[in-house]
Amino acid sequence: MTTSSLPGFRDFYPADLALRSHIFHTWREVAQRYGFVEYDGPPLESLELYTKKSGAEIVGQLYGFTDQGGREVALRPEMTPTFARMVAARAGGLPKPIKWFSIPQLFRYERPQKGRLREHFQLNLDIVGETSVASDAEVVAAAIDVLRAFGLGSEDFVARYSDRQLIAAVMIEMGVPEPSLPAAFAALDKADRESKEWILDRLLEAGVENAGTRERLTGLKDLTLDELSARFSHVDVVVARVERLGLFRRQIEAAGLGEFVLLDPGLVRGLAYYTGLVFELWDREGRFRAICGGGRYDDLLESVGGPDLPALGFGMGDVVLGELLRDRGLVPHSEAALDDFVVHVSEEVLPEALRIVHQLRAAGRRVGFDYRSRAVGKQFRAADQAGAGRVIVVGPEEVAAGECVVRMMDTGDEVRLSTSDLVGGSSGRPS
Ligand code: HAM
Repeated sequence: MTTSSLPGFRDFYPADLALRSHIFHTWREVAQRYGFVEYDGPPLESLELYTKKSGAEIVGQLYGFTDQGGREVALRPEMTPTFARMVAARAGGLPKPIKWFSIPQLFRYERPQKGRLREHFQLNLDIVGETSVASDAEVVAAAIDVLRAFGLGSEDFVARYSDRQLIAAVMIEMGVPEPSLPAAFAALDKADRESKEWILDRLLEAGVENAGTRERLTGLKDLTLDELSARFSHVDVVVARVERLGLFRRQIEAAGLGEFVLLDPGLVRGLAYYTGLVFELWDREGRFRAICGGGRYDDLLESVGGPDLPALGFGMGDVVLGELLRDRGLVPHSEAALDDFVVHVSEEVLPEALRIVHQLRAAGRRVGFDYRSRAVGKQFRAADQAGAGRVIVVGPEEVAAGECVVRMMDTGDEVRLSTSDLVGGSSGRPS
């Protein structure tokens, strides 16, 4: 036996869970500020949901198995197919736009490394029933505002964005056969962490046979919007999508978030289902993996058997975010566990101490005491370790007088108080 967890899986000791709770709390707070409501789905889904919709990379990382009923199932590696399935099942009865968020735990059999584990939590925030540029800008603004709520600024991170339709049209113009597009997107998605040779080999495997085309594809990221529209002005889709991206940018600027976004035509995203805007949030220096990724997937709902409804959203993981917050000193100090510690000087006064402990707890205070009636010095040390603000000393004399001694742990000040005043807090600053 070993005391370690499985590779890529985390134990959340209290300090780790405090950071996780801080992340979840902030995610919820911003999602609700934007008018999104929370949902959840099952952690286990039919395997088919992913093999048909997510694309080869995620399918290769599935925790899949046959259950005892003979069903092919998988632990969810991402939330979007579940979200699409749930919305598709009830879409008719739901007022549009549908604005939902969730914080699922997800499982991918990846090589564990910095920023990538085999389980992670992910904020998913999605809108259904909207094709407007305003909804594109809203989703990106929400992702940016989530990071700002943690105390990160434009010097810390940037949202890179592009458009799948634009890049698909440009790639086809450059000579990429249409059936090769999904595999070519998956290859280009790796540009940040794989060598150029690796990308060129994958593009060849994807069916991009012309060496010049492959070379030009790796240079996509260096093109500006102006260059794209000038070079491909004869392609209607390019003109329309460039215009849409321009409008998107102006709306982000109007929201006061212009300094947080950067067009990156080399950004395509690896997942198969994106159909329009795609974006990712990265730390400015590129020292970490992507913090967040998302985009528009207008065909997914229909393809899981639902109505033809447009959709878009993003997923933001807790792993890279946690690394970045630690790096920037933005992890909040964990709170003290106790408000009060009731010290009882001998076993005889334990019943009176217990009465006080439970009265204080009933009043909502966090209260501890020593289970073994140890020496008073040891009890004070335990109070200090738990970060108690007040120590309440109960001894035979105090019990006889209906009083106790209250020591404020930060100043060392002591007062005698009647036990009935303890709960009301007339003593004592913290109430
Ligand atoms: P994704 O790019 O695969 O997108 O994941 C989104 C984010 O989840 C990543 O940027 C990263 O922060 C985190 N993440 C992904 N895999 C791991 C891992 N193995 N370990 C730690 N963190 C990870 C999606 O999953 C899409 N379903 C997002 C989406 C929602 N698109 C539209 N709506």
